[in-house]
Parts: sequence; C-alpha cells; structure tokens
Amino acid sequence: MAIRFENIKEFIGSRVVWDDRADLFTPEAAAAIRAKVEERTVVVFPELNLTDDEQLQFTELMGERQRLTGRFNKQEVENDDVYQVTLDPKINPQPEYVLGTFFWHMDGITVDAPPPFATLLSCRIAPAAGMGGETEFASTYAAYEGLPEEEKQALEGMRAVHSVKASLSPIADAIPEKHRDKVLNIGLVKEHPLVWTHESGRKSMVIGTTADHIVGQEIPAGRAMLIRLQEWAAQPAYSLRHKWTEGDFVIWDNTGAMHRAIPYDKSTGRMMHRTSIAGTETVAA
Ligand code: OGA
Ligand code: MN
Repeated sequence: MAIRFENIKEFIGSRVVWDDRADLFTPEAAAAIRAKVEERTVVVFPELNLTDDEQLQFTELMGERQRLTGRFNKQEVENDDVYQVTLDPKINPQPEYVLGTFFWHMDGITVDAPPPFATLLSCRIAPAAGMGGETEFASTYAAYEGLPEEEKQALEGMRAVHSVKASLSPIADAIPEKHRDKVLNIGLVKEHPLVWTHESGRKSMVIGTTADHIVGQEIPAGRAMLIRLQEWAAQPAYSLRHKWTEGDFVIWDNTGAMHRAIPYDKSTGRMMHRTSIAGTETVAA
C-alpha cells in the first residue's frame, strides 16, 4: 500500500507515512485510516498542511460530516462545517467552549444524537514551545480493558448523567457574570451507560467532565468514582500527548477516548481547524 502506519505507544497512537500526498485521498486509504482510528484511537499525519477543502474532502471520504459547534464564532473560514478552535476574541467572542477543552471530555456527548465517531484537527498556528496547547488523548478502550475484573463487574449496569453544566462548572468563574447563568443553564442533559459495548463487541468507558453523577448513587460518591476512572484512563500507559507542529493533522476515535488541551492563552495565537464525523452507534450497555 502507498501509505504506512507506525505505532506511537503500545496501546495508543499511530503515525501515517506516505510517499505521495494524493495517495491519502482515495476511498481505499480512507477505509484503512478509519480502521486504524478504531484500532489505535489516535492517528497522526505530521505536517500534512491540509487546506479546509482538503480537510472536508478527507472528512467525507471517512464518513458523514457533521457540524458540532460554531454558533457563536465570527469565523474567517468559508465553510461552517469547519470550526475554528481559537481564543482569539475577534473570532471567538464567547471563549467558554474552548476553555472547557482544558478538561478531559468526549465531544458531542450531551446532544440527542449518536456521539460523533471522530474529531479531526488541523494545526494552523502552533503555540511556541513552553506555552502549552498540546493535546492529550486517553483511550477508554485500553483503560477499560486494563481494569481489574472485579471493577469491570462493579461497573456493569451503571449509568451516568452527562450535562453541559457539569462540563462548564470548572470554568464557570471565567464566564462574564452578565451571561454566566444563561450559559450554565444550557439545559443539555443526557444519560449514558458508563460502559459502552460497541457493535464490534469491544467495550469503552463514557467518562469525562460532562459526567456529573451516577444514577442511583449518592452524588459525592458517584462523582468521586467518575474522577477516579478519569485518572485511571489518563495514566501514561493509556494516553498520548501530541505536541503540535504547524500543519499537523490528527484524527481520533471520539467514541473510545477522552481528550483535552493543555492550557494555553490567546497570546499564543493557537489556531486549530476542526471537523467531525457523525457517529453511527448510540451508546449501548
Ligand atoms: C475540541 C477540542 C482540543 C484542542 O475542539 O473539541 O477538544 O487541543 N480541542 O484544541
Ligand atoms: Mn473536544
């Protein structure tokens, strides 16, 4: 095949190597890459330097493209299906959503649709060294598989309540007071099984900062357990930190991973262009 993959860590990450860039834009390559995303969770294309049109084309070759967010942005891109992840106030006048990416999460987990299969990020402006802005990924497939048997059994049948409010509570103080209540009361709430049994038969965990509490448990106990599971999944064996170079393109399996950005500020100029691939499976126990 004209493209090759190299593993990055034992349980997570794959790097793509190609001779001819055009070899990436075929249905066969897209199918191989999609399978690799499912197998390795994170797939990195170093310095691919995609244009928006190419990123959209790539997204569509791999699945059905989906627009997730962007309502509040005053974007400088032509197509609204490309979301500009930035703290630049000229483009993003309501930075809450991007500040929320500093905490472990899965994308699109509180909306009434199957969670997006994958998120695709293209780095347009990378922060300078030492300024933060790396992205971390944690495989919730590998983390689940690594749990002791009795813990796996204890999680069977548990359900968690996910909400936008829970995901914004760590950054609530940074929301200007005049619209804090309105933002925090975006009423998106969704219950999911804690352990997701995929159609493939593999199991992952649906966790992250959107997870507020466990149904039927005392709130503090359930919350503490959710945080422990996050910590478990984030341990180095199951996670990967990507330090961005301008032009890097990364795709990850949003159904089997949490992700977060290492905090950065707007002075870095960091700019990512994001697209999403629609999910095909709802979270099932
Ligand atoms: C996102 C996101 C991470 C990053 O856009 O959904 O989580 O590193 N981005 O910008
Ligand atoms: Mn995200």
